[in-house]
Amino acid sequence: MTHKRIIVFSLFLFINSCNFFAFSNEIIPNPDSQVLTGGDFILSNNTTINYPDDFKISADFLKDFIKIGENDNNSFTKLFKFFSAGNEINFIKNNIENDEGYKIEILADEINIYSSSNKGAFYAVQSLRQLLPVEFENNKTSLDEIKIPCQIIKDSPKFKYRGMHLDVSRHMYSVDFIKKYIDALAMLKFNTFHWHLTEDQGWRIEIKKYPKLNSIGSYRDSTLAGHYTDKPIKYDKTRYGGYYTQKEIKEIVAFANSREVLIIPEIEMPGHAQAAIASYPYLSCRQEQIGVATSWGVFEDIFCTRETTFSFLEDVIDEVISLFPGEYIHIGGDEAPKKRWEECSQCQGLIKKEGLKDVHELQSYFITRMEKYINSKGKKIIGWDEILDGGLAPNATVMSWRGESGGIKAAQMGHEVIMAPNANLYFDHYQTKKEGEPVAIGGFTPIEEVYNYNPIPEELNENEKKYIIGAQANVWTEYMKTSEHVEYMVFPRILALSEVLWSSNRTNFTEFKLRAENYFKRLDELDINYSKHLEKEEIK
Ligand code: ACM
Ligand code: ZN
Repeated sequence: MTHKRIIVFSLFLFINSCNFFAFSNEIIPNPDSQVLTGGDFILSNNTTINYPDDFKISADFLKDFIKIGENDNNSFTKLFKFFSAGNEINFIKNNIENDEGYKIEILADEINIYSSSNKGAFYAVQSLRQLLPVEFENNKTSLDEIKIPCQIIKDSPKFKYRGMHLDVSRHMYSVDFIKKYIDALAMLKFNTFHWHLTEDQGWRIEIKKYPKLNSIGSYRDSTLAGHYTDKPIKYDKTRYGGYYTQKEIKEIVAFANSREVLIIPEIEMPGHAQAAIASYPYLSCRQEQIGVATSWGVFEDIFCTRETTFSFLEDVIDEVISLFPGEYIHIGGDEAPKKRWEECSQCQGLIKKEGLKDVHELQSYFITRMEKYINSKGKKIIGWDEILDGGLAPNATVMSWRGESGGIKAAQMGHEVIMAPNANLYFDHYQTKKEGEPVAIGGFTPIEEVYNYNPIPEELNENEKKYIIGAQANVWTEYMKTSEHVEYMVFPRILALSEVLWSSNRTNFTEFKLRAENYFKRLDELDINYSKHLEKEEIK
């Protein structure tokens, strides 16, 4: 194995300037153990980074992070070198069992980072990052010396699936923002980004074989203004839309790879398909022209079970698979009203032909058939918990959103489960009852509710509990027109979720709150908008 050395030439050091920078020795999510051993490691322009080739992503991240403070004009640098002996940060491959786990040894003359894969090394760097002044997050560092307290950190994740979702269909965000979001996820040791790409209100992924999905399906003529319960209903009468080109998606996938984040694309079926049907009316039972949805809710026009629909969906999935290297494709399955299927001679004929009992078994037929296709391409499906209705597809992973009961049932059947119950993990809900909040869909999920959430239900026995692979929060964006608003809804609740998913060494909400408050300084430097609601304020 070859090793590389990087000289950290980029720090600049003012020998005689005062140090006003904020140091902290706190890490979110809280590591398994963090023991101070006395003394300091001094990071300087003489520090070198040594790493085996397969840890290049992590070493480069650390190098770039430290480099942010570069300033070649500093006349004191040479002088400082005279006093400071060179020291090292060493990435060392070992056989730590969990490939996302790591150990950091900070000694006076070297930092040793042990892990069995780049994932662990990457998470070690994310922890080390938090031991550096927050100003490193921005290019504002000018320090006389950068002391890192000597300590030993041992750490590994509690859950293997640590996800965050984002709906880009109700509102769409720039490629730069999607990267910023993924970057923030990685910082908090999330490893999955669930990208909700298709909806009634807009199709957001370029599909080359079906260009009308983008020329028609990616745009709506108008958008509901105000809350959907407002009377009278108002619209903004402004065309809205866009989509991510395959080139942009490849760029985002490569970025996510450099952050050890896997992207799960979601292509909704059979419901939430109005934008696709507006593009190609033959995909629906009635085959009539409809428009891309302009308001929020659940719509009756869903994919018909005609062969031509399956051909279309298989073609779409082929292009999706070619873009996303991860093992999972999310195929939705939620909120598909069966009215059209009840009335459709094609759908009723298929029920008879296949010996199915009803439209619920027809949905199961639909999902199972798509699962078979996706499995044949070497990928696995995830679906919302409605895919349990009428019989669960044999290899499906279930994402439990209508509470935990779907997840419990699936785990008892030996299926993998991701918990995303709406009461605890819907970040489109209000986070405070205080007046003056931006309009949200409803609900109330304060940060304490998130922090206290345990993804493993008591009802399960020890064997069944193993099927709960993790959890995620969902961010539905009907009421989030801007990326700043998304950030406001996500932060700081995501800090609490990171501890739920990563930390075996949980403390308590009161202690967590102090660390979260300190973390706000880091969010400021990162230009991340956040809500300051750490308390559940009541209506005055
Ligand atoms: C969902 O919230 N409809 C999954
Ligand atoms: Zn039909």
